[in-house]
Amino acid sequence: MNLKQLVGEKAAEYVKEGMVVGLGTGSTAYYMVEALGKRVKEGLSITGVTTSTRTKEHAEKLGIPLKTIDEVKKVDLTIDGADEIDAHYQGIKGGGGALLFEKIVADYSDKVIWIVDESKMVETLGAFPLPVEVMPYGSQQLVRIFEEKGFHPTMRKNDKEETYLTDGGHYIIDLQMDKIEDPNSLAGWLDSLTGVMEHGLFLNRVNTIIVGRESGLEVIE
Ligand code: 5RP
Repeated sequence: MNLKQLVGEKAAEYVKEGMVVGLGTGSTAYYMVEALGKRVKEGLSITGVTTSTRTKEHAEKLGIPLKTIDEVKKVDLTIDGADEIDAHYQGIKGGGGALLFEKIVADYSDKVIWIVDESKMVETLGAFPLPVEVMPYGSQQLVRIFEEKGFHPTMRKNDKEETYLTDGGHYIIDLQMDKIEDPNSLAGWLDSLTGVMEHGLFLNRVNTIIVGRESGLEVIE
């Protein structure tokens, strides 16, 4: 059973006629976009707001009408994937490099649904490297600060081993934290660093989580 497909298709059922829908990024969100594309072909009228160039190209191919986040008053519902979700439903996102746009779209959404397979559910965040999106200018200074903290930073690379560039034109530094005991204080500290555009800690930002398990679907409200 493809659990990503299962949760992606389930989440698409939450989309109703006339909604403005935030379309997340990643291999799980892919299936939700596919399912919505199918419903649009069958007559559903919605407006999508994409969170990355990748999702935009996908949605365009499927004929989903799109607007940018600046062209809509608000987003009714955003559906997105996640890299890790802890026991308190706090998350790490940004494995796919779209964290800044994803956080912007989520923050202007009435409701957010995360769709994940069961491997993403953890007790404590941190095994998954925490992405930090930074301005290229001064980024090595941030790498130094993270090294001094013992966060084992690595500058993300693309397939060609060049420095990865986000859709916003920034770099991503991945932090190998292993265990994030206090996500709130880490988020506050990262927010305070000049040059940090955004980080992948998504705290208190989800309303519903749909988890795909080998035993079936779990919906956490
Ligand atoms: C992209 C993201 C993705 O939602 C996250 O990386 C999960 O991706 P996938 O569904 O491919 O595991 O945050 O920036």
